[in-house]
Amino acid sequence: MPPPRAVATPNPPIPISRPWIGDEEKAAVLEVLESGMLAQGPRVAAFEEAFTRLTGSRHAIATSSGTTGLHLALLAHGIGPGDEVITSPFTFIASVNTILFTGATPVFADIEEGSFNIDPKRIEAAITPRTKALMPVHLYGQMCDMDEITALAEKHGLAIIEDAAQAVGATYHGRQAGNFGTGVFSLYATKNVMSAEGGMITTDDDRVADRCRLLRNHGMRKRYQYEMLGYNFRLTDVLAAIGLAQLDRMPEGTRRRRANARFLSAEIESVTTPVVKEGRDHVWHQYTVRVPDGMDRDDAVNRLDAAGIGTGVFYPGGAHRFDHIKEVVGDLELPVTDRVAASVISLPVHPLLEQNDLERIVAAVNAL
Ligand SMILES: Cc1ncc(COP(=O)(O)O)c(C=O)c1O
Repeated sequence: MPPPRAVATPNPPIPISRPWIGDEEKAAVLEVLESGMLAQGPRVAAFEEAFTRLTGSRHAIATSSGTTGLHLALLAHGIGPGDEVITSPFTFIASVNTILFTGATPVFADIEEGSFNIDPKRIEAAITPRTKALMPVHLYGQMCDMDEITALAEKHGLAIIEDAAQAVGATYHGRQAGNFGTGVFSLYATKNVMSAEGGMITTDDDRVADRCRLLRNHGMRKRYQYEMLGYNFRLTDVLAAIGLAQLDRMPEGTRRRRANARFLSAEIESVTTPVVKEGRDHVWHQYTVRVPDGMDRDDAVNRLDAAGIGTGVFYPGGAHRFDHIKEVVGDLELPVTDRVAASVISLPVHPLLEQNDLERIVAAVNAL
């Protein structure tokens, strides 16, 4: 019998994201499991402490997700029915849904074409006597124009609640995301620092921190003494153990993401590569390109998929395009968001990419 012929193995698909999990995360989880103390306890406290060191904020409050973190941050700032919160329409729906859950009204200011972030020039026009807070969203890991946003907040006496879900470790002129007001991070499985599910609120405001802690745990400061209506939005020690190991990994993960983004931006020619604004340290949660006029985005996604390149479309529509939001804000024209939503594609940029993967991504994108 002739020897079996070697079959060429095709290149495996490159996923859009892949969690970077090593022995440290596994050992940390086992240690918690063996301790028998699984729910919110010392690991959560250590994780919170690590976030105060990272962001320079006085307080950090861990939550069960970024969504529950945003919800608590809004409530802790006293936001509720009759209030307005100005945010970006080009975001994950949790930014907007949490405003709705408090009974407040989301008000959208359209985004900048280059950075994909809320345009501060449009914020001022959206401020009314009902406006209580500004919620900038640091999309894809790049911070918003915080000088302009801070100046507006001060001028009009508004709170800043940063949706920093995608921006752990990002900076604006050297100052960390989450340090400009009350910040909220997501630790969802695909994030740069993850705990499978989880969130973190950071703030310098003692009262906001105290309310977040109470609201997170049934309004209890002392066991079974209920000071207010509250939720169970706690993080567990099992998940905090993962998050602590991830924080140690973050500097190297960010270094790799930046190197990957640099390579992609240097080599990609067929589509518009991302803009990094002056004074920003982008952490590249996503690397998002725009297809040029005349190229069909969905067709491009299908062709990249056929070439084994995982992609994401974050997000195919602005928040103002969904019925439950239209019911509240009516029919809005937000032309920049609509144009951007029709043309974005996120490409793999995660820290586990090899040089060969990057070259395959470039070749497939340049062949579009
Ligand atoms: C911009 C933004 N806000 C809020 C969230 C909500 O975070 P989580 O999924 O942890 O609830 C996310 C999560 O993807 C997000 O990207």
